[in-house]
Order: sequence, then C-alpha cells, then structure tokens
Amino acid sequence: MDLRIAVLGGDGIGPEVTAESVKVLDAIGRRYGHEFTYITGPVGGTAIDMTGSALPADTMNIVLGSDAVLFGAVGGPKWDNPEIPIRPEDGILKLRKNLGLFANLRPCKIYPQLIDSSPLKPERIQDVDFIIVRELTGGLYFGKPKRKWENSRGRRAVDTLAYTEKEIERVVRVAFELARRRRKVLHSVDKMNVMETSRLWREVTSELSVEFHDVELHHMLADNAAIQIVTNPSVFDVIVTENMFGDILSDESAVIGGSMGMLPSASLASAPPTDGKKRRRGGKPALYEPIHGSAPDIAGRGIANPMASILSAAMMLRWSFGLQEEADAIEASIDSAISDGYRTVDISSGGGNVMGTSQIGDMIAGRIRTVSYTHLTLPTSDLV
Ligand code: IPM
Ligand code: MN
Repeated sequence: MDLRIAVLGGDGIGPEVTAESVKVLDAIGRRYGHEFTYITGPVGGTAIDMTGSALPADTMNIVLGSDAVLFGAVGGPKWDNPEIPIRPEDGILKLRKNLGLFANLRPCKIYPQLIDSSPLKPERIQDVDFIIVRELTGGLYFGKPKRKWENSRGRRAVDTLAYTEKEIERVVRVAFELARRRRKVLHSVDKMNVMETSRLWREVTSELSVEFHDVELHHMLADNAAIQIVTNPSVFDVIVTENMFGDILSDESAVIGGSMGMLPSASLASAPPTDGKKRRRGGKPALYEPIHGSAPDIAGRGIANPMASILSAAMMLRWSFGLQEEADAIEASIDSAISDGYRTVDISSGGGNVMGTSQIGDMIAGRIRTVSYTHLTLPTSDLV
C-alpha cells in the first residue's frame, strides 16, 4: 500500500515520541512492502510561535490530504498564561472538531510484565482489559456560551454542557458495537442524579440497548466509576461516557498499568470497520495519539516512553488501513521488548534494562523484521 500519514509532533515530548513511531512504521514498510509518506506540519504552541495560530491552514491542508494523522501532544508552561487568547490545546480541539472525530477509543490493558510498576495491588489488576469510548466533539469542551467576562459585580465565567440525542446515539452505538465484539459488557457513565444531559444520555443509551440485547448494559454514576476504576477495574469491558468524564477517567485508568506512557488512542468519525478493509474511502482521516500530554518536565531529555505513540501507530494500521498483521507485529515487538526486560524509566520500577526514547525505539523497530505474532498478542487485536 502507498499511504500518506500526517505526522504532527506538536510540543514537549510529542515530537520525540512520534519520531520513534515513524522508525517503527518504516520497519513495517520494509517487512510488508508498504510505502509510507510522512508529511509534517506545526501544531499547538510551536505553531502559535511560528504563525500565531495553533492549527495553521497549511497544517490543516496537510491533514486533509492524508490517509491518517499521527499526533504527538500539545501544551507547555510557555503558553500556560490563562490570559492568552490562543492556546496550544486549540490545535487538537479544532482537529477533532474539523475532522468530526466524535469517538475516542482508549484501550487500557495490563502488561503482566509491568504489574510491579502499578501503584495498585497485583490481584486487583491482573485481568484488566477494557476500553474507554470517550465522546470527543461535544459536551463541556465545545458547548456555547463559553466565555469569561467582568461587570460591576465582578468576574464571571461560563462553560456549557449540551448534547443532542444524535450526538449521544452515535458514540454509544460505537461502544455497543465494540462491546459486541468483545466480552459484551457495556458500562455507560453519567451523572444523572445531577445533570439533565446525563438524564438524556441514560435515556438514549437505554433505548439503544434494545438493538443490542446481546450486550449487558450497566449505568454507572461518574463518581462511582472513578472509585471502581481503581478498586475493581477488571469488571469493565467497554466504558462509554461524555467528553469531560472520559478525559478524567482515562487518565485515571492510565495509572492502573503504572504509566501514562503506555496508553494509545484512536479518534474516529465512525465505528471501527468489521471487514478489515481500509476505512478512509474519500472521507476525512482519523487521528491517533498517545493519551499522555506534552510532559514539559522531561521534554528534550531523551527519556520519554514512546510506546503509547508506537501503539497508537499500530491502532492506525489496524483501524485506518485494515493492516491487521502489521499492527499485531508492532504490538508483539513491544511485548517482546518488555518481556526481555527493556524499559524506559517510567516503567522501570527500579529494575530492568533502562533505555532512552530513541534506544527503545530502535529496539522495538529492530524486532519488527523477525517478530512472530498471533492474533492474541495484545489489547485491541480482536476488535476488528
Ligand atoms: C487529552 C488531552 C486533551 C483533552 C487536551 C490536550 C486538550 O488532555 O487528549 O486527553 O483534554 O482532551
Ligand atoms: Mn486528557
């Protein structure tokens, strides 16, 4: 296949980890005979400094001309002043909105080899394997009015949480479809004891469950979900929730496995294909990014864990391009590097052979040539 990938590294460790994904994709290209063309452009704070915009028109054009987007991270202390009118985060938020990426899939699976890096007790987490489906283009992130102002009584600010039934239905449908192909258990997370949007969410979800009677649906309040994720996480299979709850609960989920550096994500404009075919038939590209941020404290030190980005590249191969074996090969290479004791510092828990970003990237890319894999290797393999 000839594929064009928009590579938007962004800020902080974003470009460092994304560069390792490119290495690994090149290794995939060599083994399986694909031609990947990478087109890069600025986004986030870096783009603000260069052009005054967090998502310059040139970058958006690169994105629209590509088959998929591999995204790094945005933000950093340099742009943290709440007074500035343009924020690095606008870059990713506009991309999500412009591309219609309403479903953000964040798989959370424990690597048994890394169980000691987790702050949670091993017996609580050993069977953890769930996926959060986070609504990504609505809710508090985008609702209008959204502003801060001042009058004679002082300063005020407002954000708006609004959902239409259509917005709820399409993302919950993605979650039901995923659950149907997994263990057939769906937890829908809301705050219906307080919010109207949550009551609508619950209503629409319950109505849709009639179509998916083979999937066991549970409604759960968001505060309770926050407790269950760290006390009883193995009960979850698929979790679906609105944008802000999904943001918070997915970061919380990342600590189950011990590091934010291990969790990938896919942002899609429709359900993942079931036919294993390339998905983008003339539509807009999907976007793949690690769930971690720009980690300014470690940026430029060459110690960031690139695995979340590399696993995001695997999701891209699987879901945008229908390249199952290639995705399996990436996941198996990571698995084998970890099994052989190679670690970045965030997952070292004092042991293992600790490597830098580029070294571990080389190590994973080097394994692609010979690694063998089965369809059971890792988190998302049986979804499609
Ligand atoms: C994430 C990030 C983003 C979000 C930020 C960078 C806008 O935290 O992808 O989870 O809040 O969605
Ligand atoms: Mn987040």
